[in-house]
Amino acid sequence: MSEPTAAVNQARLLEMMTAFKSTYLLRAAIRLRVFDALAVAPCDPDDVAAILRTNPRATRILLRALTAAGLLRMEGEQFTLPEGVRELLVTTSPQYCGGIAEVAASDWEWDALRDLDEVVRHGSSRMERNAESADFPYWVDFATHLTFATRPGAQFLAESTVAWAKARGSLDVLDVGCGHGLFGFAIAEGDPRAQVTCLDWPDVLDVARRHADRLGVGERVRYLPGDAFAVDLDGEYDVIVLGNFLFQFPVRRCIELVRRLAGRLKPGGRVVIAGFTTGDRPPAQDYHAHLLNLLMLAWTTQGELHSPDMYRKILAAAGLGGVEVAERPGLPFRFITGESV
Ligand SMILES: C[S@@+](CC[C@H](N)C(=O)[O-])C[C@H]1O[C@@H](n2cnc3c(N)ncnc32)[C@H](O)[C@@H]1O
Repeated sequence: MSEPTAAVNQARLLEMMTAFKSTYLLRAAIRLRVFDALAVAPCDPDDVAAILRTNPRATRILLRALTAAGLLRMEGEQFTLPEGVRELLVTTSPQYCGGIAEVAASDWEWDALRDLDEVVRHGSSRMERNAESADFPYWVDFATHLTFATRPGAQFLAESTVAWAKARGSLDVLDVGCGHGLFGFAIAEGDPRAQVTCLDWPDVLDVARRHADRLGVGERVRYLPGDAFAVDLDGEYDVIVLGNFLFQFPVRRCIELVRRLAGRLKPGGRVVIAGFTTGDRPPAQDYHAHLLNLLMLAWTTQGELHSPDMYRKILAAAGLGGVEVAERPGLPFRFITGESV
């Protein structure tokens, strides 16, 4: 399953080799709040250095590099924000997305991938503390900042779940590995009957709780801290959501978990696996999923992204029927659903 990709030439290879410099340029500017400093009025480097309390020479070099990257405009020695930057990178904007850098451009991801060649030699994570650890700080950052990127997928899941649940007498939702919790909270926003149970590590649930309160659904949410493979699931559910969770584990463990969860479904209830998959489209169409797969290789023992077809098999092996795969154009996620029979 392959299709012609962009031509390989020196320019493209050089772009890949130097991509990390752009990453750190953007991350530094976000961390220093360069875009906030320029949001009020045009400034020269000394003004910006005074606002940010940074070194003037270093600030001049940084501002010029940001201009070269298209993130600032320069007129004489005055710097301003071009279109789009004010909306996306000034912290007071409702569309601000700079926080994602603390996840996508994090030291955690860099540390995991910096010795990828060693990981490939060895076959598995080389990190002492990795994504499977209960206290992996990355997951708190992920839950804090990844709401922006997840909202459209959560909206899609909520629409289909609320429509499906109309004829049911209840809508009790268990969100396993909930992170920020948006998958469950979007359902709660879409149906006032919905009661959501969030399952994740304790420090991640603290973040989910803040999102639930901010979204006004906090009173219909409860929290189950602990390991999804072991914690008491405490009740029966109409819908159990696994959002971007199962790719941290090999197929054998996925079947073990889905079986355990299927045992907690109410009659006619469903398990929904939502998230990135690989294997059903040419790799070039799923570039980000394949990069994510490298991360799973580098920071789990046996995790990897599974194909929709493999998820069908996992749901069937857990005794679920009526398996369906859904996607919406423009969304990177697939939704694979199985129902208790
Ligand atoms: C990639 S995030 C997914 C978050 C959210 N569901 C989403 O789709 O954006 C994976 C989440 O699973 C949690 N997690 C990983 N292993 C876990 C385990 N064994 N038990 C409970 N939660 C776990 C992490 O803390 C993290 O919040």
